[in-house]
Amino acid sequence: MPEIAVLPGDGIGREIIPEAVAVVQAVAPDKFTWREYLVGGAAIDATGSPLPPETLAACLAADAVLLGAVGGPQWDTLPPARRPELGALLPLRKQLELYANIRPVRVQKALVGASTLKAEVVEKVDLVVMRELTGGLYFGEKGRRTAPRAAYDTLIYTEDEIRRIVRLAFLWARERRRRVCSVDKANILESSRFWREIAEDEGRNFPDVELTHMYVDNAAMQLVRRPEQFDVIVTENMFGDILTDLASMLSGSIGMLPSASLNGKKGLYEPAHGSAPDIAGRNLANPLAAILSAAMMLKYSFDLTAESARIEKAVADVLAAGWRPADLAGPGDRVLGTRELGAKVREAL
Ligand code: IPM
Ligand code: MG
Repeated sequence: MPEIAVLPGDGIGREIIPEAVAVVQAVAPDKFTWREYLVGGAAIDATGSPLPPETLAACLAADAVLLGAVGGPQWDTLPPARRPELGALLPLRKQLELYANIRPVRVQKALVGASTLKAEVVEKVDLVVMRELTGGLYFGEKGRRTAPRAAYDTLIYTEDEIRRIVRLAFLWARERRRRVCSVDKANILESSRFWREIAEDEGRNFPDVELTHMYVDNAAMQLVRRPEQFDVIVTENMFGDILTDLASMLSGSIGMLPSASLNGKKGLYEPAHGSAPDIAGRNLANPLAAILSAAMMLKYSFDLTAESARIEKAVADVLAAGWRPADLAGPGDRVLGTRELGAKVREAL
């Protein structure tokens, strides 16, 4: 039986992940072995380390990883390398070689009015951001200097790192509307000019897919101006981090944005939002990004396409029936807590 390593992590991760697990168990009963491991602040408190060796080994051995979120104010004063983000999330991505972070942005019909943008701007949105996840500024050499005091981070990409993510973007575009927009800052950055060169070169292997390039500042503007122009966006790590938070608002809330981090062999699935310490432990969190991440897991790690589609449909049906998580509630909406919304999705399966 395939094994799924479950890492709820911190904050609302502990509330949303159980809902996602329960939804998968309802749609694919007795198909998986589930084992839970410590990560992030919870792991620091229990073991002193944000990514205990046992957790890393389990993730390397498992067939897929389902992750909640890590981090919280109580761990922000630790030395950077021991904090949940730098000490757990990044090493996990690096050790599992999860170089492609895929964040699909779609707008649920029922939520067209929930976005802060006008309905006519968001209603046709169907895009995927493919974010490079194991290179760039996040992993380049960083440090401090004295006299004068200074700090630096390095943005470096190897040809292979660029080629494999761009290639994946082309492959995904082939299953969609056959358009790749590579986002960079080639008017300023040497790493971006190199990125563009490699993207062009790789594009020659995909004559059936249209390749365009866009500066990241313009891409941010276009994402709120006319987002339906995008099919697959491919970009480096930090640009992707920023653009996906921005793009999440097209779908109404970051609480709706699932993600898959892939390398062609293994996948780690996590909602794109964080641990939200301000609302943690109060049954307020939106479990839908976690539930939709689990649906991505069924599809991309286990080829359970029908089961995955059933989850997505159940989520759409619950929203269409007027049920809302707190982050998407407007006046007169019927609001459900984390557990109740999870149960509603299971009922709708
Ligand atoms: C994300 C998050 C992380 C990132 C943080 C928590 C380190 O914002 O997955 O987008 O910056 O990658
Ligand atoms: Mg982010």
